[in-house]
Amino acid sequence: MKPFNVNPALLKGEVILQARNVSKVYGSTHALKGVNFEIRRGEVTTLFGENGAGKSTLMKILSGVITPTSGEILLNGEESVFRSATEARDCGISIIHQELNLAPNMNVRDNIFMGREIRRAGGVDYAEEARITRHLMAALEEEIDPLTPVETLRLGQQQIVEIARALSVNAQILIMDEPTSALSAAEVAVLFQVIRDLTSQGVAIVYISHHLEEALEITDRAVVLRDGVMTAYAKREEIDLQWIVRHMVGNHFDLGSPPQGYAFGARALTVKDLTVQSKTGIRLVDNLSLAVQAGEIVCLYGLMGAGRTELLETIAGRLRQSSGQILLQDTDLSGLTISQRIKLGLALVPEDRQRDGLVQTLSVGENLSLASISEFVRGLVLSTRREKQLISESIRNVTVKTAGGDAAIGSLSGGNQQKVVIGKMLATRPKVILLDEPSRGIDIGAKAEVFRLLAESASRGLAVVYTTSEVGECLSIAHRIVVMSKGRISAIFDASVSKERIMAASGESMVA
Ligand SMILES: Nc1ncnc2c1ncn2[C@@H]1O[C@H](COP(=O)(O)OP(=O)(O)OP(=O)(O)O)[C@@H](O)[C@H]1O
Ligand SMILES: [Mg+2]
Repeated sequence: MKPFNVNPALLKGEVILQARNVSKVYGSTHALKGVNFEIRRGEVTTLFGENGAGKSTLMKILSGVITPTSGEILLNGEESVFRSATEARDCGISIIHQELNLAPNMNVRDNIFMGREIRRAGGVDYAEEARITRHLMAALEEEIDPLTPVETLRLGQQQIVEIARALSVNAQILIMDEPTSALSAAEVAVLFQVIRDLTSQGVAIVYISHHLEEALEITDRAVVLRDGVMTAYAKREEIDLQWIVRHMVGNHFDLGSPPQGYAFGARALTVKDLTVQSKTGIRLVDNLSLAVQAGEIVCLYGLMGAGRTELLETIAGRLRQSSGQILLQDTDLSGLTISQRIKLGLALVPEDRQRDGLVQTLSVGENLSLASISEFVRGLVLSTRREKQLISESIRNVTVKTAGGDAAIGSLSGGNQQKVVIGKMLATRPKVILLDEPSRGIDIGAKAEVFRLLAESASRGLAVVYTTSEVGECLSIAHRIVVMSKGRISAIFDASVSKERIMAASGESMVA
């Protein structure tokens, strides 16, 4: 890929885009307060910050999606006002948004060229579009046919299509807002190679991620935002993980430890000889057995494709089991619908919260109470007082940063939207809660809060099963760590196990 013709040796390190004293106000929220920020050619500038710190807001301003309340943007030293994303794109600025922005029923090629079709005499040059699509997907090592409908792709592949679209612009400035949240380790490695190629050609990159260690790998300069204020700025060689965390949260944090001082209750969830097959007959879950007691927290660790998501989705009733048995306390769940399972006390926080967990057209409060709405129905009267009370409790519990229950869900930062989904499921007062990657896309502070909330619920008798791809998150609140590989359990550990042993059992050490 050759994005544009410059001599990188001449320009590397030169400031290309600058935000000067930029502020953004939304009603009573000051999302950005007088931020100065610069992006340099041939370098990766990484933006760190907790959920709601203002990262996406700053990037949307730089890419013309929204306009600042005050302050100015300078491109190549000249003040420039982008009135739309299209205008910014024409100036060579491309953005990969945190939330996927694809049309699910359209194919990969049309998503990539949506609004920028390649014209030739007589219409759109679909063949040329398909050729470029194939080229981009090959560069990203994801050989997907350009005509594949996006909705049939798994989340990680959709994210790669989003990346391909941003690359297709041949931008001089490429902004990546959480581009790897759904990618596997191998896919991340490919993306990082692409980033290195681009910077060596002089492209300026802004990178945002909550995977701090991963982001450090490609960072040239780091900027930390906290509550809309830039709190630190440094070159890669001057910083480490502790530096980032210290400036992000301002104080010490940890992800907690397994709650203790109580005895587990009866079996809450029993999975017996469970097998789940894909349409093509592959065993996604292979004769797996697992029991979880009331009050117990189990972490399911494994690589992409280990079968964790399939296991949870089958327990929740979203996928059909081929054989085996699932019991909630003593009740056999086979044949029951998702909502029947929820009524019995089973809650699932899915992996793709954007699509499955939230109703974008409803407010924060409505989303929080959606799943537990039957609790408020007394006779035929909806008890709004009780609902309001529960909503403000939930908002407090999951410490969602919002103007209030009436705020639109779209006004929340990405991580805060995810906290709403978790709050919503806890509000159903389940006996068993299954969480698929609950920490995906949420910052360290929010992670600690979510884990604290789960630990507290467990000590009151909730059985908790959560999956994670970050080994550090296994060694937090879990009493037991169950490692999955290829649809089977490859090891079970207690909380005293080392990171290395967990990774070895997942097969990770071999992949790396
Ligand atoms: N359209 C909007 N209307 C009202 N408030 C908004 C809007 N967009 C963002 N905000 C608020 O601005 C603040 C900054 O949000 P932003 O999305 O920039 O955070 P972020 O750093 O990207 O967080 P995350 O890591 O969770 O993605 C938050 O308090 C958010 O609720
Ligand atoms: Mg964001």
